[in-house]
Amino acid sequence: MQNLGTVPDTVQVAVRIRPLSSQELAGGHHNVIIQPNPAEPRLIARGAEEFTFTEVYGPTVSQAEVYDRSVRSIVLKLLQGFNVSILAYGQTGSGKTYTIGTSFDGRLTNQSGILPRALLDIFDAVNAPPEGDGSSASYRVFCSFMELYQEHVYDLLSHRNRYERLLGIREDTEGVIVPGLTELAVSSAEETFRWLMVGANSRATAPTRMNKESNRSHTIFTVIIRSRRKTNATAGEHVRISKLHFVDLAGSERAKKSRASGDRLRESIQINKGLLALGNVISALASSSGTSQTKSARTTFVSYRDSKLTRLLQNSLGGNSITLMLACVSPADYNIEETISTLRYADRALSIRNKPARTPPASMGQSSSMAEVERLSKTVSELRTENDQLRRRIAAELKPAIEAGLAGGKNGTGRHLAAQNRLLHGQLQSSIEESTRNELRASIAENALGRLEPLVLHELRTEYDDLTGMATCPLSGDELRTKCEEILLRYRTEYEALQQRPTAQHRSTLD
Ligand SMILES: Nc1ncnc2c1ncn2[C@@H]1O[C@H](COP(=O)(O)OP(=O)(O)OP(=O)(O)O)[C@@H](O)[C@H]1O
Ligand SMILES: [Mg+2]
Repeated sequence: MQNLGTVPDTVQVAVRIRPLSSQELAGGHHNVIIQPNPAEPRLIARGAEEFTFTEVYGPTVSQAEVYDRSVRSIVLKLLQGFNVSILAYGQTGSGKTYTIGTSFDGRLTNQSGILPRALLDIFDAVNAPPEGDGSSASYRVFCSFMELYQEHVYDLLSHRNRYERLLGIREDTEGVIVPGLTELAVSSAEETFRWLMVGANSRATAPTRMNKESNRSHTIFTVIIRSRRKTNATAGEHVRISKLHFVDLAGSERAKKSRASGDRLRESIQINKGLLALGNVISALASSSGTSQTKSARTTFVSYRDSKLTRLLQNSLGGNSITLMLACVSPADYNIEETISTLRYADRALSIRNKPARTPPASMGQSSSMAEVERLSKTVSELRTENDQLRRRIAAELKPAIEAGLAGGKNGTGRHLAAQNRLLHGQLQSSIEESTRNELRASIAENALGRLEPLVLHELRTEYDDLTGMATCPLSGDELRTKCEEILLRYRTEYEALQQRPTAQHRSTLD
């Protein structure tokens, strides 16, 4: 019997205060958020407003400490079958992406965020040797990565072009789902890091006055665990699926301050709209599960449907998930309004009650197609890796051609490149077609060879029997050899013709 330990039933809120940046220090800005006692999760903003959270991390607290104190234990709940959500919330430039580690570059350092650290722990647990009593589970791990940009959901792990990565969302019995979202089977932390980097590279990011690498979209990176466990000694088995979401929200910003215009302004309006809907959901949930349990408070309407962001986070807020909100704030005086607003949201979130429960198990009978799905997912994942490598190779091979085009094209460089690109694309296409034809030929030829061999032998044997059955042999040894060679030549010609022209007609004659 597994010991499930304690499971928090309210949203956990950790506030992280980033250090003042070198520009802020150079600009004479100072710190207006005080943590009176680093051992207590309490802080004072602007010398007056006091807040207490699950944890408070000051500017000198390391990434490792944030992970160890707030994240590790809930990440491991994932392996027990709980859904877990970790959300980074806060103003633009406050440290959300830094804390989550969404822009991880593949090198593990002290600066790496909680996501790569969690992946290491997950794979350590998944690959741990089984317990001797046979009660251990076996696990399969998958990952997905999506982006919510201007109220549109994009699949960040799809190999298709941006337009074709667009996905819809809908509700079913399991809650809100994103049909068609790529879920890749992964077998190590390193492999998952690579997908994280592939996805993060296509995320919408743009420099703004507030953050030179500001994220213009919300992202959700999900680790999915499929665990199989024996239910009793007579070999019954069940399967449980649990999910861990890392939500890196885009930051709220004031247009006046960020001086956004054009595309940046349009993005920021959508970002603020989504965050406003999220704020409303947090307020409604907080008042319905807060201490004043009056009837009217308990029945507060929670408007999840106001934005895609709140629909996607429905299960994380007020659902069956164990949820940690990392509220990131800037300590600088000029950001105090935004910081106080984040702290008030975070304070409200603290009283949201979730109903964490292990996801229901399905017996292997119920999930008879599980093994097949697993096998197909593995194949898809392998093909995706292969495809990715091919793309990189093609890109590397195209680069010199493009550079040559740039160097050579003084006039109409764009047109020249486009023509070059079309030409290379055409060549690539015909190589692929040629290779497909070759494969088809090879397999038909293999097939033909297998069937022709007995025919040749049969014909030779008949010829030999006819000859040896005659009273007097009319053929000399040389004539006999020539006869055999003729038969072989005829079949070889047929075989080669098949190799060259694998038509449907040939195939049907061979089948
Ligand atoms: N705790 C920290 N320690 C050191 N540097 C930090 C910390 N938090 C944030 N930073 C730095 O501050 C800058 C802004 O952080 P980040 O990009 O994570 O902000 P963000 O909240 O994701 O902003 P946006 O909403 O615009 O995407 C980055 O250069 C990051 O490295
Ligand atoms: Mg960010």
